[in-house]
Amino acid sequence: MKKSICFLALMAMLAIHIQAQQPNESMLTVHVNEGSTTISKHIYGHFSEHLGRCIYGGIWVGEDADVPNIRGYRKDVFEALKALNIPNLRWPGGCFADEYHWKDGIGPREGRPEMINTHWGGVVEDNSFGTHEFLEFCKLLGTEPVICGNVGSGTVEEMSDWVEYINFDGKSPMTDLRIANGKEEAWGVKYWGVGNESWGCGGNMTPEYYANEYRRYATYARNYGDHKLYKIAGGANSWDLKWTETLMKNVPNWMMDGISLHYYTVPNTWSNKGSATDFDEKDYFVTLKKAGEMDELITQHSTIMDQYDKDKRIALVVDEWGTWYDVEPGSNPGFLYQQNSIRDALVAGLTLNIFNKHADRVRMANIAQTVNVLQAVILTDETRMILTPTYHVFDLYKPHMEALSLPFHLQSPEYTQENEKLHALSASCSKSPDGTINITLVNIDPKNSINLTCTLDGGEAKNVKGRVITSATITDHNTFDEPAKVAPTDFTDVKIAKGKIEAKLPARSLVLLQIK
Ligand code: AHR
Repeated sequence: MKKSICFLALMAMLAIHIQAQQPNESMLTVHVNEGSTTISKHIYGHFSEHLGRCIYGGIWVGEDADVPNIRGYRKDVFEALKALNIPNLRWPGGCFADEYHWKDGIGPREGRPEMINTHWGGVVEDNSFGTHEFLEFCKLLGTEPVICGNVGSGTVEEMSDWVEYINFDGKSPMTDLRIANGKEEAWGVKYWGVGNESWGCGGNMTPEYYANEYRRYATYARNYGDHKLYKIAGGANSWDLKWTETLMKNVPNWMMDGISLHYYTVPNTWSNKGSATDFDEKDYFVTLKKAGEMDELITQHSTIMDQYDKDKRIALVVDEWGTWYDVEPGSNPGFLYQQNSIRDALVAGLTLNIFNKHADRVRMANIAQTVNVLQAVILTDETRMILTPTYHVFDLYKPHMEALSLPFHLQSPEYTQENEKLHALSASCSKSPDGTINITLVNIDPKNSINLTCTLDGGEAKNVKGRVITSATITDHNTFDEPAKVAPTDFTDVKIAKGKIEAKLPARSLVLLQIK
């Protein structure tokens, strides 16, 4: 008897020991009847600048091109973006926005003047893609345009005229011009950025000076009829909290609807950023660590905004984010063309989970950039097109758009590299209008899978299905010869046991669980 008690005690101790030694066990509790914030679909927005092959060759090829097109827009790119249900598209920049003069991009194309794109490779911009081409593309896609006005080298009058040209329905000099150019009805664009990176390429202004400029520009950007503008002030460069503070202090609350924030994930230094596909685990770790800093960055800017806007009326608009590496060898350094691996997919998933977490303040974001530039969702090569791993993440996360954000508690194992640690797992939970619970999980651990046990507090899981994105190595990426190396598949390593969801999340993976 004594012997068997000792044996049982030994076994129990061993069990506890084994439990404690399981570093890759994780618990998630989702409070399915709580939550009060809707995740804005605009968090899943995109950005297209006159930069490299984003617009020309990426979106626009012209009606006479050999590449199959719809009225000049690349058919394959259009269809891929349509399938993604992109909620908004920001244009024309970026740095380009502050040297863009919109009147050069209207009227018969053959008569449009040329300019030099000084920021991006010094190439000739022929203005063949202008206001009409952009807005008709958005209409075709069913996406909301986000237009960034020129504060750096433009005038208040120029921006004011642009708003009138696009939004006024009555008779005026600008509507006459628009009608003469073939567009009878106003488009009615809601989202307007007032300058871009005014602290840098947009004019090298001080925050005090920009705040005054913002007030002038915003005053003359008029609401016409039902077309009430949503005005976004040009915000801070990553950790420049003073910029946000100065804008919040010096611009009346009612004058702006959003303040932007730009943050890029650069693994190394700006002069030696690192390769998109040729990297080791150390680079991988530091990339994910830097991407994860978005959480603290948003917290700090939001805390300042809270002091001036406790009701959170003004949105934090992260209208440029993503990875930034050295350009692909042999490509024009001014074109910012880079490849995109499973590492980028993990950065995207991690970042979108962070945005969802801050959905009460972050109500718009735009990944840079849509096609062929930085963390692109699509790459093209003449007539060929591929979807990047990042594209598949946006597709995976679609159920979160306009869903109710659900509070949750996550216990995550750690991912250790040399002496540094990161949470291996991040999550985001939401409830769709039909009651479906959506959970996105990102396991950044490159070597270890994670066993997840998920409890629905206040609900019962009857049915679960999932999708997964993973790949054999951290550098895996899609190429024009192997376009589906990193692609989503059905996730089968999940079951419901005693009312709990049990899943085995592969190393380097993103998983979507949908529970009914
Ligand atoms: O996205 C590329 C550039 O990065 C944008 O033009 C600019 O706003 C930022 O510095």
